[in-house]
Amino acid sequence: MALSKDDVLAELGKIPSPDGVPLPATGKLSEIIVADGKVFFSITVDSAAVQQWESVRERAQQAIRALPGVQSVMAALTAERAGGAAPRPQAPPVGRARPGGPPGGPAAPGPTGIPGVQAIIAVASGKGGVGKSTTAVNLALALRDLGLKVGILDADIYGPSMPKLLAIRERPQTIGGNRLRPIERFGMPVMSIGFLIEEETPMIWRGPMVMSALTQMLREVEWGALDVMVVDMPPGTGDAQLTMAQQVPLKGAVIVSTPQDLALIDARRGIAMFRRVNVPVLGIVENMSMFICPHCGTRSDIFGHGGARREAERLGVPFLGEVPLDIAIREKSDSGTPVVATVPDGVHAKFYREIAMRVRDGLAATSRPAPKIVVEA
Ligand SMILES: Nc1ncnc2c1ncn2[C@@H]1O[C@H](COP(=O)(O)OP(=O)(O)OP(=O)(O)O)[C@@H](O)[C@H]1O
Ligand SMILES: [Mg+2]
Repeated sequence: MALSKDDVLAELGKIPSPDGVPLPATGKLSEIIVADGKVFFSITVDSAAVQQWESVRERAQQAIRALPGVQSVMAALTAERAGGAAPRPQAPPVGRARPGGPPGGPAAPGPTGIPGVQAIIAVASGKGGVGKSTTAVNLALALRDLGLKVGILDADIYGPSMPKLLAIRERPQTIGGNRLRPIERFGMPVMSIGFLIEEETPMIWRGPMVMSALTQMLREVEWGALDVMVVDMPPGTGDAQLTMAQQVPLKGAVIVSTPQDLALIDARRGIAMFRRVNVPVLGIVENMSMFICPHCGTRSDIFGHGGARREAERLGVPFLGEVPLDIAIREKSDSGTPVVATVPDGVHAKFYREIAMRVRDGLAATSRPAPKIVVEA
């Protein structure tokens, strides 16, 4: 018989909280999601009590893993601020504890860095389908070619892209019980919720579940030493995205837009979102910028090329470069063979390499102290 939510709940009822109350009765347990033998839940506790609760989380995770029919368990501890509600996505955090950032303000624990990871950057857009994931992968590869150690985190919990863009079918292995080893592709560690869940599984994620999955992918994965982690963000600027922007200790954000006015309005929202949570915007990339006919070489600016550059100037953020609309980019991207890796000297790779250089320089400029990323290839 397939594993049900009630089976999980019954088992969790045997796990006492630090005060001896059964876990489901504490009011701290999130919605439990059971999908295809995979179980997800989080426990939201006061940040002052995290240490006491870690052993509860650990026991809960082990108990559920031991149930028949369970393939994997993601159990996360989510810390709430002492004496108050969980941070509201709307409230800009005071004195984020970003490594290298300004000194922290009063009791407002921002996201802490990931040990060994020098800089985390988000690739984001206000609007869906503008080429964020494609840009994230090729940018990561181009940064790798600059001599940096790069990893990719697919934070698009709703519609993960990395299994397809990098043709990854295998599942991450666990190390020592509760940490995951990322999948290695083109010399980069990669992690995506898509590696743990079947593509057909409906993604009915609740807010806390999204955060718990993201927290685990950030903190319970053996990323190793990285100069840059590139995070492919979900589209949009709603509460979920804002919370993510707050929870991930970002050094900077790259905004992807197409040149049309409508996409630019969304890009503007994206920039405003990152500014609100004090994450420096490293700049805008104009994707699907112009079309060069593969037969005659004639260039057409079908979407009104140049809009993103003008917008960047207007908003006072750097313009990082443009990428043409080209069927080769789409085909390569969708078949798991990104252009920068598979046609490294081609014209397309060149666009991404220029963007990568600007991103590297932008990161060096925003980081205090300067990160270890000023390595020349
Ligand atoms: N420069 C380009 N030229 C041609 N096709 C492109 C280009 N950039 C992206 N694409 C294609 O456009 C589609 C959407 O790209 P992608 O998945 O990267 O967008 P996204 O912004 O991440 O989407 P979502 O919002 O759904 O996450 C894909 O089929 C991709 O191959
Ligand atoms: Mg995407």
